[in-house]
Amino acid sequence: MKFFIDTANLEQIQEAEALGILDGVTTNPSLMAKEGITGHDNIINHYKTICKNVSGDVSAEVIATDYEGMIEEGKALARLDHLIVVKIPMTRDGIKAIKYFSTEGIKTNCTLVFSVGQALLAAKAGATYVSPFIGRLDDITTDGLALIAEIRQVYDNYGYETQILAASIRHTMHIIDCAKLGADVITAPLNAIDGLFNHPLTDIGLAKFLADYKKGNS
Ligand code: G3P
Repeated sequence: MKFFIDTANLEQIQEAEALGILDGVTTNPSLMAKEGITGHDNIINHYKTICKNVSGDVSAEVIATDYEGMIEEGKALARLDHLIVVKIPMTRDGIKAIKYFSTEGIKTNCTLVFSVGQALLAAKAGATYVSPFIGRLDDITTDGLALIAEIRQVYDNYGYETQILAASIRHTMHIIDCAKLGADVITAPLNAIDGLFNHPLTDIGLAKFLADYKKGNS
């Protein structure tokens, strides 16, 4: 399973990259705004900076909502760096744009996916990644993880190569559950990834090993 970090925070991206387990970065306009990065030129420069700091795919979201606008903007984003994946919303124009980029060999991430039908459309259009938002479904008392399982089943039925990128991950158990369900990728905040490290028996065991080593060397 690939690990992406879901943030525009450069320090957190660098921290995750330094761990050696990072496969990519996802961003969106809200995550950019959260870091105080606003305005077209600043956002473009930030994408370039992120790409300089990682070695995996970096999702950059189009702002245009019409087909022609998405094509123009997506092409410009793809020219920024070979790591850029053009992130396109799940709309009729978005699906048309994903189909266009797929035939051009440009990677895409179909975002704002909340149903298996939407995921099926993204796969048929040739999206590289499909992003079901599991946390936002949980927020409205709908089982986000069940959607991951349904998409996995449908994609496996037909051998679709679109990778399931579980997004809107809120905590560490979401990551574990997505791994069990066969998501190809998770994108998560650093604290959710960090939670994977923790086990009290590891801490207790390490403390005992060190104490016993000191006894033998005192
Ligand atoms: O990758 C999508 C993600 O950023 C949405 O997360 O927490 O805003 O639902 P959230």
